[in-house]
Amino acid sequence: MDIVFAVSELAPHSKTGGLADVAAALPKALAATGLTVRVVTPRYGFITAGEYVGDLPVPFGFGVQTAHVFRERRHGVEIFLIDAPAYFHRGRKLYGEPDDPRRFAFFSRAVIELTRWFGKPPDVIHGNDWMTGLIPVYLRTTLRGDPFFARTATITSIHNLAFQGFFDLNDLAYFGLPGDLRQGPDGLEFSGAGSMLKGAILASDALTTVSERYAQEIQTPEYGFRMDGLLRLRRHDLVGILNGVDYDEWNPATDPHIAANYTPEDLGGKRLCKADLLARFGMPVELDRPAIVIVSRLSDQKGLDLVRDVAWRILHSGAYFLLLGSGDPRYEVFFQHLRDTAPRRVAVYFGLNEPLAHQMEAGGDMFLMPSAYEPCGLNQIYSLKYGTVPIVRATGGLDDTIQDFDRITGTGNGLKFRAYHANRLMEKIYEGLLLYRQPHVWRMLQQNGMRADFSWARAARKYRAVYERVCAL
Ligand code: ADP
Ligand code: GLC
Repeated sequence: MDIVFAVSELAPHSKTGGLADVAAALPKALAATGLTVRVVTPRYGFITAGEYVGDLPVPFGFGVQTAHVFRERRHGVEIFLIDAPAYFHRGRKLYGEPDDPRRFAFFSRAVIELTRWFGKPPDVIHGNDWMTGLIPVYLRTTLRGDPFFARTATITSIHNLAFQGFFDLNDLAYFGLPGDLRQGPDGLEFSGAGSMLKGAILASDALTTVSERYAQEIQTPEYGFRMDGLLRLRRHDLVGILNGVDYDEWNPATDPHIAANYTPEDLGGKRLCKADLLARFGMPVELDRPAIVIVSRLSDQKGLDLVRDVAWRILHSGAYFLLLGSGDPRYEVFFQHLRDTAPRRVAVYFGLNEPLAHQMEAGGDMFLMPSAYEPCGLNQIYSLKYGTVPIVRATGGLDDTIQDFDRITGTGNGLKFRAYHANRLMEKIYEGLLLYRQPHVWRMLQQNGMRADFSWARAARKYRAVYERVCAL
C-alpha cells in the first residue's frame, strides 16, 4: 500500500508542538510495517534541508502557481518539502498569518498535484488537522472525475479540535472549489465562515484522533468545540489511536542531551541530571528538595490557570519549580514575577529549546500537566520514561496513559485528578510530595512508569487497519 502523509510541521525541521513529533515518528513506524510512506510538508523559509528535484505547477488562485519541490530521505521514509516563498517564507512563524487559509489551501492542493509525480496513485492520503483539511474536499469535488484519483481514499487525523481553519467563503473560487460548497449538508459553512476542518470531517473516508478517550470526548458538547454534532454523525468512521513515543529520541538510557544516562534499574544518573539542571539555572543544588517541572505551550488548553492558582502553595511546600514554555504573554508575565520573587526556588525559560526540554524531563522529579483538554499529550509519556512522575488531570490522552498510583497494591504510574479545580491539583501535588519522602515507594512509582512501553509499533498497526478498511470501501 502507498500512503502519502501530509502534515504542516515536521520535527526536526519545523515544530510548534506534538504534531511535529508525530509527523516524524509515525511514518517511520508505518514504513517499518512494510508500507510505502511519503511525507509531504511545507518548506518554510528557515528550512535548508532537502535537495531540489523540480518545479510543480499547482492549479490555484484562478490560474497555475508554481511550487519548488525538495526531497530528502530519513529512516526509510521519503520526505517532500513544498517550497512556495509567497506562502511559506514568513520568518520563524508557522501559523498565525492573516492569509493562513490561502497558505494551507495552497499546500493541500500542492500535495494532491505532487502525488501525480509518484507514477502510481496513492492508496491513501492521510492528512492532519485543518491545515490539510481541503485535501479530501478537492478529491470529492473539483477532482471527482479525475481517473488518477479514482482509487485514492483519504483519512484525517484530528490532533486538536480547537483549531478549525476558518476562512472567508468568498475564497472558495480562489481555492478552485465549487461555489455550492457554501451551503447545504456538504457545505463548509460553520458559524458564518468556512471551516477547513469541517470539510475534512465531512469529506474524509475515515477520521482518527490521538487517543481513545478524546475520540469519545469530542462527541460531547463539553469537548466538541461545537463540532460534536458533526462528529457524532461520523462516529462509525472515527477511531481513537493513542500516539506513541519515539524512543530513539526520548530515552534516558541513550539521550545525548542530558548530563548522565540512566535506566529503571540504575537511577543514579538521574540525580546527576537534576544537579545539572539546577546548576544550569544558577539555583542552589539541594538534591533532596523535590523539583516540579513543566514543559508546555503556554496556552489555556494546558491548565496553566490552575498552576497559577497553586504556584505560591508549591513554593511554600519547599519544592523547586521549573518551567520551559512559550506562548500567552499573560502566563509569561506571571511566571516571570514568580521567578523574580523566589529566584532560588523558581526557574523559567521562555522560548522553544529542544535540548532543555530533554534536560527538564531528566532532571525533574514531578511533571505537571493539568490540562483543560488534551487530545493525547506527549510530555506526560516522555515523563514516564524519564522517571519523572506525571501529575495530570483525567482528560483525553492523559486519562488513557496515566493511572493513579495506589500505594496498597503498588500499581499506577502517576497521580491523577478529575475535577478542573486548583485544590484538586494541589491535593495531588501534596500527595506527590509525601510519596517523594518515602524513597522505596517513590522508586516503585518511577519504575512503573519507566518500564511501560508506548512505542509507535502498536499505533502503526492500528493506522494500517484503518488504511485497509478505507481502501476496501
Ligand atoms: P501540544 O502538541 O499540545 O503542545 P504535546 O505534549 O503533544 O502537546 O507535545 C508538545 C511537544 O512540544 C513535546 O515534544 C514538547 O517537548 C515540546 N515542547 C513544548 N514546549 C516546548 C518548549 N518551550 N521548548 C521545547 N520543546 C517544547
Ligand atoms: C496536539 C495536541 C496534543 C497531541 C499532539 C500530537 O498538539 O494538543 O495533545 O499530543 O497534537 O497528536
